[in-house]
Amino acid sequence: MGNNTGSRAYKGNILYSKDKDTLISKENSYIVVMDGVVKEICDQLPNGFPKENIIDWGNHLILPGFCDMHVHAPQFLQRGVGMDRELLDWLNTYTYPNEAKFRDKEHARKIYSLFADELIRQGTLHVNCFSSIHYDASEILFDILEQRGLFAFTGKLNMDQNSADYYIETTEQSIIDTERFIRQHQSDGNVKASIVPRFSITCSEKLLAGLGRLSEKYGAPVHSHMCEALNEMKICKELFPDYKNGAEIFYKNNLLGQRPTIMAHCIFMDDDVLELMKNPNCMAVHCPEATANVNAGGIMPVKKLLNMGINLAIGSDIGGGANLSIARGIATTIQHSKIRNMFDPQWEAVNLKEAFYMATRSGGRFFKNVGAFDEGYYFNALVVDDSSVCSDDMTPVERMERFCYAGDDRNIRMRYILGKEVV
Ligand code: GUN
Ligand code: FE
Repeated sequence: MGNNTGSRAYKGNILYSKDKDTLISKENSYIVVMDGVVKEICDQLPNGFPKENIIDWGNHLILPGFCDMHVHAPQFLQRGVGMDRELLDWLNTYTYPNEAKFRDKEHARKIYSLFADELIRQGTLHVNCFSSIHYDASEILFDILEQRGLFAFTGKLNMDQNSADYYIETTEQSIIDTERFIRQHQSDGNVKASIVPRFSITCSEKLLAGLGRLSEKYGAPVHSHMCEALNEMKICKELFPDYKNGAEIFYKNNLLGQRPTIMAHCIFMDDDVLELMKNPNCMAVHCPEATANVNAGGIMPVKKLLNMGINLAIGSDIGGGANLSIARGIATTIQHSKIRNMFDPQWEAVNLKEAFYMATRSGGRFFKNVGAFDEGYYFNALVVDDSSVCSDDMTPVERMERFCYAGDDRNIRMRYILGKEVV
């Protein structure tokens, strides 16, 4: 890590979202950063700005670090396996046996280190992740995310029904361990504890109610899956006949919108569910690659949710997704929305500005002051070097688009968190 005292100015072609329709591009400009926080963007530095405090990235792009708002850390190993299965079949055949291995702390340490390394390599500096049901392994994940300096939310997974006998917990233990985990992480660091019921069908009503009480007691945010697959929704209806829909199960148990709430997938949402998700505390996470891989039966109508003003982000959802790159997630979001538009023309495809916004500023909202370069935002940034294929007739926005579609981690020359080099 470089040292970080006083003002620094980072020069390059600076890109960030102002809102879903506005992508700001400042060519050959400086981001002035004081103690890790953005002060201003300017095309000329004030007279007397110390030369040694200028970091000149020349013609490279400077982008906000990406936000992966739904990812399963323990599924890092199983990426790309069982991708021809339907969701519930995939969970039972591949996922539960794989996650059960995290009862072994050494295994957890090894895989979670690899996972964190790969997040950083791919330019994901802000992450919202699931662990497994194991208390110790969840602590290990928390510590590794913190040691790497990432901005993160994570929690101990909950499931007390409809899983395999080797990978399940009792309702009581699940609540006890979750409370312990939250109490352990009440401090103000950049990694925070959240409450993570896997999804409604693996959680009893008693468990959900208990987790809702914990969320209220500690002000803890919630992260789960909802309205992901046709099969899942059918079983959910059978298990919870007294609730109108999948969202109401969470809502009535104090787990949707009362505190910051992230719901992955949100593909099949009727008007009542959309209304609940319009709450500014809620965020829906589009996981395009996982949707295609584990045969959910549909594609999120991203444009509809964007137009309704529902908070939206992108998730890699590994191991449903196989790729941790959120840059690639931007491309896939656009591609899938075009396919959806072919079958349902009422919703236009998503454009680059919208997808980039979802991947940066919009996801970053959950952490506050990350994902853009407004004054007061943290300088959590990537330097993208495409010099081997760069030509003068391309704008910085076009170059960023090409990086999302055709680039990879080899193009990321530098990563900064709080203004410090991540090495
Ligand atoms: N729904 C419940 N658990 C999971 C999971 O691990 N991955 C995905 N994609 N969906 C889920
Ligand atoms: Fe998931």
